[in-house]
Order: sequence, then C-alpha cells, then structure tokens
Amino acid sequence: MEKKQLYTALLNEAECLIAGIEDPLANCANTASLLYHTLPDINWAGFYFLKGDRLVLGPFHGKPACVYIPLGKGVCGTAAVRNETLTVPDVHAFPGHIACDALSRSEIVIPLRHKGAVVAVLDIDSPKVGRFDDTDASYLERLASILSEHGLIPA
Ligand code: SME
Repeated sequence: MEKKQLYTALLNEAECLIAGIEDPLANCANTASLLYHTLPDINWAGFYFLKGDRLVLGPFHGKPACVYIPLGKGVCGTAAVRNETLTVPDVHAFPGHIACDALSRSEIVIPLRHKGAVVAVLDIDSPKVGRFDDTDASYLERLASILSEHGLIPA
C-alpha cells in the first residue's frame, strides 16, 4: 500500500481505538501496538513521558528499552528540548544517540504537547537507514495531535 494510504488508514484506526477513552496510558499502549503492527520496517514504537528533568519510558512495542533519558540527551531528549520533530536518517551519525536495540539504524521522534509544552515524545525506530521522511513526520505529527486531544497528561 502507498505510504499516504497506509497512514490515512492508521489515523482512522487510531481515532477509533481512542474514541471516548480519556486514559493516556491506555491510549498510548494501543497506539504503540497499532504503529508497531502497521508500519513496515520498524523495530520499536513507543512513548516516553516527561517527568521533571527527564523522560521516562511509557507504553511501547519492541525490545526492552532504557527507562530514563535526561532532557537534551539522545534523539528523544533532544527532540523534547527543541520541542520539534527529529528525523534521524542514520543513528550512527547522531552524536549522543542512545542505542536500545543494536538493530536500529534510523529513528523519528515526535513531541506530544499540552498547551504547546512538551509532555511526552513518540519514538519510532527502524533497522533501515533513511526509513523516515517528511511524509512520516507529517502524519505522525497528526497522530500526536489526536493523542493530545484525548488528554495526554498522565494522572
Ligand atoms: N534511541 C533513543 C532512545 C530510545 S530507544 O530508541 C527506544 C534516543 O537516542 O533517544
């Protein structure tokens, strides 16, 4: 299936899964599963929540990952501090990349916001170099907005 069609279907399914559910952990858990089982060529999909001055591992699919990421560290901590999506075509070329799965070769991290401030990030890894492009970024940012509309602040 063409990438835009795949994301359109994925966003529709995400809307259905989280409709009427205001529990952020449940919504992130189902979204991580949906991403992992829908997107081709990925090996990790999940969330980190901002707690104090670090990110803490949330719901995900893939191999076990590092639990704490200080703000400003790694791809996730850098995206959180900059409050912007980061697309990394080759993680080996990203200074300070935190390798949770040695198979990961490219990565995209999307901030999730409440009233404009970062409260979490969505992180997706791929074993393929250059797996993520502007189309991925644009649809995943829409997904992040959908999640934020359903109350992303963990209780
Ligand atoms: N690679 C990330 C760490 C999280 S794992 O990929 C799941 C980073 O550099 O922030």
